[in-house]
Amino acid sequence: GLAGLVDRYGRVATDMRLSLTDKCNLRCSYCMPADGLPWLAKDAVLSAEEIVRIVGIGVHRLGVRELRLTGGEPLVRADLVEIIAALRAAHPHLPIALTTNAVGLDAKAAALSGAGLTRINISLDTLHPETFAKLARRPFLDRVLAGIEAADAAGLGPIKVNSVLMRGINDADAPALLAWCLERGYELRFIEQMPLDADHGWTRQGMVTAAEVRAILSERFRLAPDPRARDGAPAERFEVRRKDDDAALGTVGIIASVTEPFCSDCKRTRITAEGKVMSCLFSHEEVDLRALLRSGASDEDVAQRWQEAMWLKPRAHGMDHTGLGADGFTQPDRSMSAIGG
Ligand code: GTP
Ligand code: 5AD
Ligand code: SF4
Repeated sequence: GLAGLVDRYGRVATDMRLSLTDKCNLRCSYCMPADGLPWLAKDAVLSAEEIVRIVGIGVHRLGVRELRLTGGEPLVRADLVEIIAALRAAHPHLPIALTTNAVGLDAKAAALSGAGLTRINISLDTLHPETFAKLARRPFLDRVLAGIEAADAAGLGPIKVNSVLMRGINDADAPALLAWCLERGYELRFIEQMPLDADHGWTRQGMVTAAEVRAILSERFRLAPDPRARDGAPAERFEVRRKDDDAALGTVGIIASVTEPFCSDCKRTRITAEGKVMSCLFSHEEVDLRALLRSGASDEDVAQRWQEAMWLKPRAHGMDHTGLGADGFTQPDRSMSAIGG
């Protein structure tokens, strides 16, 4: 038998992240260029059948225990509901999560829930329409808010909200965003911006660090370490308390990919929209499974190639506190939208 998705450093990947498309309907500046990217050809992207097969191989042969569907923006795939229904039929107990920008989610949340989606993470960087339009380069804040509400109503919670802070653009909005999420029972996570933007405009100075996020939030709230075990999760969680009477308001997470990396506990394996294994967000090698899937290879052959790809997973992304200046670190050619957050 096969031993699962083990790497040279002894980590075992049980958390599969599958990108359904490179396309997106927003242009967040920390991810996409203003004019968009040349989209992949339709036949370059894995079909619904290929997706179901590859997930089956992961679950039945390689120890995958959790699936997250990403993009680009997964909602732009017209067959998303069918894909989730087929995955759910094949795997009744598999947790299936979706990471989305929520544009158009208001019309689809109920169908996604009915098809068997387990839970949802939504990107939201600000509650100000003008700031949203500037950051995402599209004036769609109202559509996102409607999507979040619909997801909650459809039972796709507990909803997590992902927020990337940009210095001078939305960093001052952080406490208001947290208050808004706490009122609604959403778990907000602030994410350090990583050098995965298509414009290659990331700088270490421009990035708002986890330490700064804690300082900004501490002006309005009291943060205390969350006693629950972290268990390899990217987010470090804090209990949020009101300053005057110490009342517990909920929790907040901070994903400090750059300044406090969590690579040594990483459980993730990624498949891009074109069916390539990426052992790490920052790996420069990609191993093609699509060619195997389309050449009549057996499930065992596909599983073996996937294992070989994961064996080469880098020990860590190699950015240190100086970010891009670290020895041997270069930004990958692909942007976040092309890898799948
Ligand atoms: P949960 O199971 O809900 O905690 O999911 P998640 O946080 O893993 O998923 P999500 O898609 O919401 O990812 C949130 C952010 O975590 C991403 O936007 C990334 O910034 C970061 N992240 C996810 N996976 C990795 C990874 O493999 N490496 C690094 N450095 N960051 C990651
Ligand atoms: N750094 C960190 N997070 C990013 N995301 C997109 N680009 C970046 C980046 N350069 C996040 C989005 C979304 C998730 C899929 O990835 O905010 O929540
Ligand atoms: Fe689209 Fe997500 Fe990239 Fe924003 S971060 S442009 S929503 S893929």
